[in-house]
Amino acid sequence: MSLILGIESSCDETAAALVTRDRRVLAHRLATQEAAHRPFGGVVPEIAARAHVEILPTLIEEALAEANVSLSDVDAIAATAGPGLVGGVMVGLVTGKGLALASGKPLIAINHLEGHALSPMLSQPDLAFPYLLLLVSGGHCQLLFVEGLGRYRRLATTIDDAAGEAFDKTAKLLGLGFPGGPAVERAAAEGDKSAVPLPRPLVGSAEPHFSFAGLKSAVLRARDSGRYGANDIAASFQQAAVDCLVDRTRRALGDAPGATALVVAGGVAANKAVRAALTELAVGHGLPFVAPPLWLCTDNAAMIAWAGALRLEAGVTDGLDAPARARWPL
Ligand code: KG4
Ligand code: ZN
Repeated sequence: MSLILGIESSCDETAAALVTRDRRVLAHRLATQEAAHRPFGGVVPEIAARAHVEILPTLIEEALAEANVSLSDVDAIAATAGPGLVGGVMVGLVTGKGLALASGKPLIAINHLEGHALSPMLSQPDLAFPYLLLLVSGGHCQLLFVEGLGRYRRLATTIDDAAGEAFDKTAKLLGLGFPGGPAVERAAAEGDKSAVPLPRPLVGSAEPHFSFAGLKSAVLRARDSGRYGANDIAASFQQAAVDCLVDRTRRALGDAPGATALVVAGGVAANKAVRAALTELAVGHGLPFVAPPLWLCTDNAAMIAWAGALRLEAGVTDGLDAPARARWPL
C-alpha cells in the first residue's frame, strides 16, 4: 500500500504528514504561527515564509519518527504548490523537491484546494463521487461539484471576500482578536443573533455566487452606531453569514445532479452554527452530510498526502520544475 509524505506551507500553518492509500494517517505534525501574526491582526507573508523555513525540517523528521519509517519507505512526496502566499508555498515545495531528489522518489505538486476538496474521503471511506462541496476557508469560498479526481466543476465563488475572511474582519472590527473565526463563534455564543439587523448579500439571487463585503460594512456601521454590544453584533453576523452560506448551497444543489452527499471543508467548517445549518439543509434534500473532523477541516498536510496518494495511483506525478503558484484555480 503506497505511503505518501505530505507537506503544507501555503498560509500560516506549517505541516507534515504520512498517509497511506488505504487511509491510514501514520503521523501528522502541525505548527501554527498564530502567535507570530497576532500582533499584526492578520497573516504577514514575510513572517510566515521565514517561520516555515525554521520549523518544516523538524516537523518532517518528527512525522517520520512518529510513523516509524524513513524516507526510503515513502513512495512519493506530495507538496502544496499553490494557491497561497507564494513565499511560503516555495518553502514547502522546494523542501519537497529536495527530498524527492535526495531519495529518488517522485514529487507530486498538489493544489491546496484539491487537498481540501478530497479531504472528506480520507475520513469517510464510503463517500463516493460525485459530491457537492462547500469549501469555506480564509482565502476561499466556493461551491465545487467534485465529479472525480481532477474533475472539479466550480459552481460558485465569492465576488469579494471569502467567508473566513468575513469572520476574520468582523473579529478585527469588534476587537475580538486573531484568528477571527473561533473568536467570533465564542462571542456569538454570548449574544443575541436577532439583535442587529444585517443584510444577507445575494440571498435569493438567481446568480450562484457569494458576497460578504456588504455584510462586513454593515458590521462596521453597527459597531460605530454605539447601539449594540460586541456579542450581539457577533451573533447577528454569524447568523447572517450562515444564512448566506446555506442559501447559496441550496441553490447549487440544483446544479449538482446525482450528488451523493453534501460535504463541507475548509476552516469555516469548524463553526458549529455552520455545521448545524448545513446538516439541516442536507437532511431536507435526503442527502448525507459529511464534515471532516476539525483537524482535517483546517489547513493540514494529511489532506495533501491523501491527494498525493490518489494522484500517484492515477499515475500523475510532477517534474522538479513544478512552479510555486500564488494563484491556481482548480
Ligand atoms: O482552511 P483554513 O485553515 O485556511 C485557509 O486555507 O484559509 O481556514 C482558516 C479560516 C480563517 O478565516 C478562520 O477565521 C476560519 O477559517 N475559521 C472559522 C472557525 N475556525 C476557523 N470561521 C468560523 N468559525 C470557526 N469556528
Ligand atoms: Zn486551506
